[in-house]
Amino acid sequence: MTRIIGVVSGKGGVGKTTLVSNLGVALAQQGAKVAVIDANLTGANLGLHFGLISYPISVHDVMRGNNTLADAIYKHPSGVDIIPASLSIDDLDVTPANIKEAILEHLGDRDFVLIDCATGLDRETLNAIEMCDEVILVTHPELPTISDALRTKTVAKRFEKNIVGVVLNRVTKEDEMKKENVSAFFDLPVIGTIPEDISVRRSIENKNPIVLEKPTHRVSQEMRRIANYLLGKKEEKKKVGIIDRIRSLLGI
Ligand SMILES: Nc1ncnc2c1ncn2[C@@H]1O[C@H](COP(=O)(O)OP(=O)(O)OP(=O)(O)O)[C@@H](O)[C@H]1O
Ligand SMILES: [Mg+2]
Repeated sequence: MTRIIGVVSGKGGVGKTTLVSNLGVALAQQGAKVAVIDANLTGANLGLHFGLISYPISVHDVMRGNNTLADAIYKHPSGVDIIPASLSIDDLDVTPANIKEAILEHLGDRDFVLIDCATGLDRETLNAIEMCDEVILVTHPELPTISDALRTKTVAKRFEKNIVGVVLNRVTKEDEMKKENVSAFFDLPVIGTIPEDISVRRSIENKNPIVLEKPTHRVSQEMRRIANYLLGKKEEKKKVGIIDRIRSLLGI
């Protein structure tokens, strides 16, 4: 059965697209058939994370009914199928449409369809949540961002979506909100704690998900742990390399 999982947040810029791209690749590396969809219609950039820059057909064309979802699939060497959204400002006026039926029709043989959702609680986001069966909440470990994410959780619950858990992104040693507190706050498991690291930005600049660019990096290890959680597999043992050890001793 295809699991359609939306990656959502309260605030923007917390790492949804970074998670979708890396989790997509990490799941594919485990042998899963994966498609990722950019449902962030007004802030599209999922394709860019994979180095997909020019594409004639996008999710906007699918929502307008001009093309089928199958026309908008682009294959990445990692095995992930990408359904990007348009980067053109001329496409900003598209009315969000629920393409769940199209997902089931054209991507029904995939194990996972990950949906990169928009931020906020307007029509665009609600529409994206409607397409999913499950959601993962992404937040930074700071109170205002967490409280915004809690609102999104409430909305997802109202839509009767299964909430898989919370991913804490950009975690540093100094963070006051610890994993256990966050879990209690949301009444959900924290399924990943991704460290703050400059390599994430570099990999985005290189248009290559960090799990491909630096497979042994602690961020990549954490991405794979989240993938394993979704697959119900045993956790990968954390391997801390010498560089990471020095970094953590120096607090950088
Ligand atoms: N773990 C991390 N360490 C350091 N920087 C990070 C990390 N995760 C994300 N970033 C930075 O945060 C930026 C925003 O991430 P991303 O685009 O994934 O967020 P988003 O939630 O999808 O944003 P939007 O709401 O605008 O769609 C990235 O471009 C990257 O520079
Ligand atoms: Mg994004």
